[in-house]
Formats: sequence, structure tokens, C-alpha cells
Amino acid sequence: MRIFLDTANIDQIKQAVKLGVISGVTTNPSLVSKEGVADYAATIKEICSIVPGPISVEVLVEGVKPMIEQARQISTWAPNIVVKIPATAEGLEVTSVLAKEGIKVNFTLCFSLNQALLGARAGATYVSPFVGRLDDIGHDGMQVVKDIVGVFQKYPEIHTEVIAASVRHPEHCVAAAKAGAHIATVPNNVLVQMIQHPLTDIGVSRFLADWKRVSRK
Ligand code: E4P
Repeated sequence: MRIFLDTANIDQIKQAVKLGVISGVTTNPSLVSKEGVADYAATIKEICSIVPGPISVEVLVEGVKPMIEQARQISTWAPNIVVKIPATAEGLEVTSVLAKEGIKVNFTLCFSLNQALLGARAGATYVSPFVGRLDDIGHDGMQVVKDIVGVFQKYPEIHTEVIAASVRHPEHCVAAAKAGAHIATVPNNVLVQMIQHPLTDIGVSRFLADWKRVSRK
């Protein structure tokens, strides 16, 4: 399973790239507004230049024609742009047009196997089931990921990749990996939690202390 960072924070992205563990970034309007970004296009272009992998960028208009036009525009910002299109009827129509033009689509706000299957059939490069938001309403978000992965595997002509999104804690990543998700997109705090283990910290301290004792002799 590959790891994407779910953020629009440039410092977090730079740090995660230094760690060598992320293969892409997903953004959304809420994440961008949290950063107080003045120039949307400039920020996205900067992210695209930092990360050698796909950068998902939300289309922010309604209606098939305006969405297609904005998606085409956004896709010119950098070669690694993926446009995020919502899992609606309009979104399907938009996805099928863009896919035929070679523009990569992340079919987002996906909450069911049926939505994911339709997104794949329309030509989406990625589908993003939102695990945490399903959990929030008492559903089993990870079961949806498992179902999508399982069904896509049954049909080898489907090349759409599954991004476990709306990840809230490291256990979501464990479950997504076990479910066979191609990618988990994780907020920075979850990435940090994935790295840490108290036994590693204790182990490092002990090894260093023991080594100091030996090297003093
Ligand atoms: C993914 O592409 C979305 O940006 C993100 O995972 C949504 O997560 P949230 O439910 O925490 O807002």
C-alpha cells in the first residue's frame, strides 16, 4: 500500500517528502482554507513541484460543463495533477469525458461499493472511499474499502486504484493495508503516529546509554 499525505500544508509536505515515504498528496477545499492560502493555483503548483507523484485537486464548481472546463484548466497547472470529482451523476459524466481526454480523476466523496464501481466504469484513475466519515455515522467504513478492493480484484479489466481516505488514526492504515487498498491518504498527525512506538524510543535510549558505558572503558 502506498501512502499519500492528506494536506495542503507546504511544511508538512516537505518534511514527509524528506522521510521518503509519501508517493502523492490529496488536497480538498477544507484543507486549503485551513492554510489561509491566498493564491490557490500557486500553492497547488508549489505542492506539485515538491512531490514526485500524483496531487489530487478538487474541482470547485457545479454543473457538467463548468466542472469539465475547470478540470481541464486545473490539469494544465502541472503534469502530476489529478482532479477530484465528486461521486454524483454529474461527476460520472464529467469523469467519463475527462478520462477519454487522458485527464486523471480521483472519484471522491465515495461512500459505497456501487459509487466506486460506477466511478471505475466511467474511467476514474482512483476512487476514494471516505472511511472516517462513514464510521462517524455508525457505518463500517473499512468494510466498504474491503468490498471495493474485493470486487475490483474479481474484474481484471478494472485498473482503478482504491484510496482509503478520511483516515483518522493509524489503525485505519493497518486495516486499509490488510484490505489490499492501493493507497491510504493520511493526515500529517496520523503519519507521525504511524512512525512512533514507545519501545523504539526506549530501545534507542538504552542502546545509546550502553554504548556510552562501553566506549568510556
Ligand atoms: C481525501 O481525499 C480527503 O481529502 C480527506 O481524506 C477527507 O478527510 P476528512 O473526512 O477527515 O475531511
